[in-house]
Amino acid sequence: MKYTVKSAPVARQQADCAIVGVFDRRALDAHGEALDKTSRGALGQALKRGDLDGKSGQTLLLSDVPHVACERVLLVGLGRERDFDEAAYRKACAAAARALRATGAADAVSYLTHLTVKARDAAWRVQQAVLATEDELYRFDEFRGSKARADIALPKLRTLTLDVPEPDLKAGERAAKGAQAVAAGVRLTKDLGNTPPNVCTPTYLAGQAQQLAQRHPDVSVRVLDREELERLGMGSFLGVARGSRQPPKLILLEYRKGADGAKPVALVGKGITFDSGGISIKPADKMDEMKFDMCGGASVIGAFEAVARLGLPINLVGAVPACENLPDGEANKPGDIVSSMAGITIEILNTDAEGRLILCDALTYVEKEYEPAVCIDIATLTGACVIALGAFASGLFSNTPELAQALLAAGEATGDRAWQLPLWEDYQGMLKSEHADVANVSGGRDAGAITAASFLHRFTRKMKWAHLDVAGTAWRGKRATGRPVPLLVEYLSRYAERAAKPS
Ligand code: BES
Ligand code: MN
Ligand code: ZN
Repeated sequence: MKYTVKSAPVARQQADCAIVGVFDRRALDAHGEALDKTSRGALGQALKRGDLDGKSGQTLLLSDVPHVACERVLLVGLGRERDFDEAAYRKACAAAARALRATGAADAVSYLTHLTVKARDAAWRVQQAVLATEDELYRFDEFRGSKARADIALPKLRTLTLDVPEPDLKAGERAAKGAQAVAAGVRLTKDLGNTPPNVCTPTYLAGQAQQLAQRHPDVSVRVLDREELERLGMGSFLGVARGSRQPPKLILLEYRKGADGAKPVALVGKGITFDSGGISIKPADKMDEMKFDMCGGASVIGAFEAVARLGLPINLVGAVPACENLPDGEANKPGDIVSSMAGITIEILNTDAEGRLILCDALTYVEKEYEPAVCIDIATLTGACVIALGAFASGLFSNTPELAQALLAAGEATGDRAWQLPLWEDYQGMLKSEHADVANVSGGRDAGAITAASFLHRFTRKMKWAHLDVAGTAWRGKRATGRPVPLLVEYLSRYAERAAKPS
């Protein structure tokens, strides 16, 4: 899809479709009013017929509206004007994209980007319009049979023009470019997440990272194999990997466009390409969804895709420990004690708490190898986080208040929200082990998301660190969402801006 940004009077616009809004109780927005005038009241008449009253998410497609240059006019319900907020704006953009997809229109021009959203500017409106549209148009049909694929109607829509007030043209164009880079990262993350686990193995993920490096000369990728992980002493990561026939990979990404010698930001993503639970096996119900257990890792790869497209002037490193969690003959057993790269010994009381076991070694490696300015890990870590926050917010934990604030703000701005949970030392006592330095789970189910984060904290004391538990946000139903790529890229864009400012 191509996006352009324009500022042109609605009456003279030529496109296959013009998109305007209608507030609840049939009130056309300003551009709708203008089109209504041009059409000598045709839009108002359509509303009077009662086909659309302006409820949020409704759409009505009109053809051959008299005196209007566009072949079609798409009316989009906005809900009540005084309730019109960020979520309603996004919903309107998504509804417009969904309705457009069902038409034969090849190009469309949206005036929704003129609507007032409190505390948000035109650049934000353009960014959100692009992200919502891309989200709506995303399809994953690679694994359907050739017959079914031949039947899939190709989308006609090629170009969406976002109209903005004239003074906002430059900022709008920049925002559209930026949002398309973010959308490309989101798309890659969704594709990797949706790919079935017999295809998306650790080796496949590593190959995808290498392909990314091939597309972007600013990105370099190294992949550490089992022997190197052994040499590094990653007994915790390797213990999980032993339960499967698929060889583990530690995927390392580097992007250096920041100041020479400036410490990098580090992203570490959980890359369990399938989580059966291991010997502490999961129930069969919804176990298929554990193919998404690599979404944290996929979001790291997606963030690199976006950052490389944006050309952000920062130094960025990524680490994705990737393996399967299966109950093969050499798998971890409850009661096993493994030794992590940090030298901390871990008693594995539940083999299903495997994410923290692979992350702790990756975090230690990142701390020692890169000495990052900040380190953010992203993981589908706990079912408890889904119980706590549901699908709307990722769980956020951090040992550095400013980092937490920056991540919360980035999430708020993009609608890819996070919510902070505590990391108090009180919780450490819940991870006591009878025979090792730490247990991988606490005895009960209390505070499951926090005890998991607290486990990771034992390995990240020397860094400014944040942990995003995306168990509830990385997929919805059976579809990857691409979250938290928008949050991460927004954070990194702001980080780049701050770094560029002389202090
Ligand atoms: N990948 C799961 C977490 C998960 C579960 C994400 C369900 C999304 C939906 C993780 O490896 C896991 O199994 N965690 C256990 C931890 C428990 C054994 C302490 C969990 O949440 O049940
Ligand atoms: Mn698990
Ligand atoms: Zn898992």
